[in-house]
Amino acid sequence: MSKIPTTMLAAAIDRFGGPEVLTLHTLPVPVVEAGEVLIALHTSGVGSWDAWMSEHGLDSGATRFPFVPGTDGAGVVAALGGRVRRFEPGDRVYAYNYDTAGFYAQYAAVPAFKVGRVPPQFNLKSAGAVPTVGLTALQGIDDVLQVKKGESVIIHGAGGGVGHLAVQFAKWRGARVLATASGKEGLAFVRRLGADAAVDARQGDVTEAAARFAPGGVDALLALASGEVLERCIDAVRPKGRFAYPNGVEPVPVKRPGMQFTAYDAVAGVREFDRLGRAIQASRLKVHIAEAYPLAEAARAHERIAAGHVLGKVVLRIR
Ligand SMILES: NC(=O)c1ccc[n+]([C@@H]2O[C@H](COP(=O)([O-])OP(=O)(O)OC[C@H]3O[C@@H](n4cnc5c(N)ncnc54)[C@H](OP(=O)(O)O)[C@@H]3O)[C@@H](O)[C@H]2O)c1
Repeated sequence: MSKIPTTMLAAAIDRFGGPEVLTLHTLPVPVVEAGEVLIALHTSGVGSWDAWMSEHGLDSGATRFPFVPGTDGAGVVAALGGRVRRFEPGDRVYAYNYDTAGFYAQYAAVPAFKVGRVPPQFNLKSAGAVPTVGLTALQGIDDVLQVKKGESVIIHGAGGGVGHLAVQFAKWRGARVLATASGKEGLAFVRRLGADAAVDARQGDVTEAAARFAPGGVDALLALASGEVLERCIDAVRPKGRFAYPNGVEPVPVKRPGMQFTAYDAVAGVREFDRLGRAIQASRLKVHIAEAYPLAEAARAHERIAAGHVLGKVVLRIR
């Protein structure tokens, strides 16, 4: 392992605001606490919640400036806290830490239970894109909706970060998938991922597509976007069917009677990362990187997210 420097480069903010407040800083490398892993990051994920945090701060209200956004990433273990036994320096790891963020940097110190080993066939670029959206997709399909072989599922917003992985996990579980996406490119993208049917969420007739796909109503719906079209997707769920969405999908969908209706948050933990690793291997998951920006251009990455219609995931290239 190379020696750990005392300072590092990070994309950070000194005040809340839009992409323009995110600039390259030289900051101290984080001190590793007893239960933490110091990761030398290779790639970090960029999501709409990172832009939100740059404007509003951490949910806990404990934001301190300079604040480094970024909730996930992948790299190699640079150092371990005294209580950590699960990893060795040099291990390839990926991590998700929504609570304190800090991944738009060359190094991040992360509680060890929020760190997993990167599956062998995965490169660090794909691994860095996956923790937040992969845990969200897998937990939505497996834990919340409990999708079973032969069931019919709508994935609404299937072309984005969470959706493009959810399509693959639902297919791996043996479900039939109707994906909503937008534009020719979006529809072709979700079909390539394995969706059995696809409909344009912005211009197509979702009600008609759903009726053709599952005449008695679909068994389950995972929503990664809200709005009028989501209401049409909810209409297409069969009586006593299941509907789930991760918190952050807004406007918050209004509950309907006669349906299992669940809002959830992705959970990071030892068991969760083990399961994600197994699911990545078994499903031969493909992560689509829409665009990779250098750390110094993190502001452009946030502009790209704000522009919308990202197929797959935007990342920061750090090493
Ligand atoms: N609580 C948690 O633990 C958690 C974790 C991860 C994500 N989330 C939330 O989950 C959501 C999805 O995240 P993501 O990273 O997958 O986002 P994303 O990459 O932006 O994907 C969202 C998808 O929804 C589509 N979409 C957006 N607005 C739409 C509309 N009005 N009608 C139809 N389609 C629309 C977009 O398609 P086009 O623009 O191409 O049409 C896009 O493909 C976000 O709200 C995020 O905050 C929550």
